[in-house]
Formats: sequence, structure tokens, C-alpha cells
Amino acid sequence: MTSSEHDHAGSDQAGSVTLLGLGLMGHALAGTLLAAGHPTTVWNRSTDKGTDLISRGARRADSAGEAITAGSLVIVCITDNNAVRELVRPLAAELRGRTLINLTSGSSSEARDLSDWAAQHEIAYLDGAILAAPTGIGTYEAAILYSGDKDAFDQHNPTLRKLATPTFLGNDPGLAALHDVAVLGMMWSILNAFLHAAALLQSAGVSATALTPVLQGGIATTAGWLAGYAEQIDTGVFPGDDSTIATHLAAMTHLVDESSAHRVSTDLPLQIKAVADRAIAEGLGQSGYAAMISQFRSPE
Ligand SMILES: NC(=O)c1ccc[n+]([C@@H]2O[C@H](COP(=O)([O-])OP(=O)(O)OC[C@H]3O[C@@H](n4cnc5c(N)ncnc54)[C@H](OP(=O)(O)O)[C@@H]3O)[C@@H](O)[C@H]2O)c1
Repeated sequence: MTSSEHDHAGSDQAGSVTLLGLGLMGHALAGTLLAAGHPTTVWNRSTDKGTDLISRGARRADSAGEAITAGSLVIVCITDNNAVRELVRPLAAELRGRTLINLTSGSSSEARDLSDWAAQHEIAYLDGAILAAPTGIGTYEAAILYSGDKDAFDQHNPTLRKLATPTFLGNDPGLAALHDVAVLGMMWSILNAFLHAAALLQSAGVSATALTPVLQGGIATTAGWLAGYAEQIDTGVFPGDDSTIATHLAAMTHLVDESSAHRVSTDLPLQIKAVADRAIAEGLGQSGYAAMISQFRSPE
């Protein structure tokens, strides 16, 4: 897309926005932009959704193509990227010269494919991953990660800031989707560890409610280690000066034994211990914890 076409798409100060998809998330996005004063055109496959938005001043388009031509910025948020492809591919002519922001969850390869298709049709494409529930949209606590066309991100940043705190990750359009699953993977690991801890302490008569502040303190302490460990991963130097993997292994053994003794599942503790066992077998016993990154990489 040329800069003059970008200019043609208009400045972003409360510019017109089109929202394709009014499910739970699309509705929250449209409602937030409407409340912020953006002329907002909406389209949803089934017409029973968004009546409240229309009564608040949004315009309902009869077709997705008509909706697209009403806005300089087009946001799509529907079930998955198969549906996005099905929806936007026949509408390349309407999208040409506009910015398409895809806030639908999907894979990094889907994002790259959509970005390639958009480039062929002179559509500026940004892929986004929403790290929030619909109720969080419109707050700074909510985060949306973006990747793809940096010019489009910069141009529409004032609008994007109204939806959530925006972060641009890079020109590779797949990065937002990849970060999304990385964050979710970490979240599920933490939640599974929480459930295991709650089951363990419940067996000793301690309620999950009583345990939770102790666990929250542990999460905060662990979060504080990440930046230092990240530096070690990036430099490949893993000093065992705070504690070694061998020291951790001894405590991991306690976790397995306590779980077994209290008739709580040992699945998660054994998995944790197996990683350390393998690392030690490779001679990493005296290294710091982050040296176990080797256990998470594919063998070359
Ligand atoms: N909800 C959350 O907490 C949350 C958080 C982060 C990310 N997300 C992501 O946001 C996206 C939307 O989620 P949601 O919660 O809004 O889902 P939802 O409430 O189930 O809404 C799905 C939307 O997709 C539309 N749709 C489905 N297939 C379509 C097709 N082939 N053509 C056109 N429209 C189609 C539906 O239209 P109809 O009304 O006609 O069925 C509806 O508007 C998903 O990718 C989801 O992973 C959601």
C-alpha cells in the first residue's frame, strides 16, 4: 500500500470504523468505539445481534461489503480464520486501500497467509490477539497484541488505545498469534499447578481460599525471576549462583512424595521432575534453572 493510499484512508482521530462480527467480543469492541465517538458501522452474519448498538447510534450495513466501504478502518472479529477467509476473500476490491485488523484468534501461519493475500490486494493488514475478556475491552488492564503492518499500527494507534493497551510485536504478522498461545500455555501451566496445590492442601484440611494468598505470593516472586532468566536464555550463560538444578530436583522429589502420600495425582509433579532428571543426565545439575530451556527445544 502506498503512503498516498494510507492518507486516503483518512486520519485516525475518531475516524470511521467498521466492525465485522458482533459476537461477544465484536459487540464489546464496537460498543467501546461507539462510546469513544467513532462513527461505527456494524455487520453481523445473523441480523439479530447488535440492536442495542444501533439504538446507541451505530449504523447497520446490509452486507459486509457495504460495511467495509463505510469505514477507513475495518476490524473483523469472528469465530476463526476459516470464517475470516470465507468472508473477506470475495471483498478484496472493497478492502483495497483500507486497513484490515483481524482480531480473530488463530494460528501464526493463518495470519501470514491472510497478510500475504492482503498485500496482493493493497490492503494494509494487522493481526491482533486479544488478551482479555469482552468485559475488559475499553480498559487499560486489557491488552491486545498486534503484528504486521507497522504503518497501519502507528496510524490507528489512537483508536487501538481506546480498545485496550496495544503492543506492536513486529512486522511478521504471525507474531501476535504465536505470543497468544505462549501466554495461554503459561496461563494453563499456572492454573494446573494451582489446582494441584489446592488438591494437595485440601487433603490436609486447608481450604483453597486459605491457600490462595500464599500461592499469589509465590507467583509474584517467580514472576520477578523471569527477566533475569530471560537474559540467561538469550546469552546462553546459566550460573547456578542462586540455586542449581540439582537443588531444585531434591525439592521436586518432595513434591512427588507428598502428593503420593496424600493420594493426590502425581502426574504434574512427575512431569516436572522428569524435566530436571533429563537435564541432570545431560550434565546440567550445577547450572541454574533456566538451563533447562534445552529440554523444551526440539532436538536438532
Ligand atoms: N470472548 C472472549 O473472551 C475472547 C477473548 C479473546 C479472543 N476472543 C476471540 O474473538 C473471536 C470471537 O469470539 P466471540 O467470543 O465473539 O465468539 P462468539 O460470541 O461465538 O461470536 C462468533 C461470531 O462469529 C460470527 N461468525 C462465525 N462464523 C462466521 C462466518 N462464517 N461468517 C461470518 N461470521 C461468522 C458469528 O456470527 P453469527 O452471529 O451469525 O453466528 C458471531 O458474530 C474468536 O476468535 C475468539 O477466540 C474471544
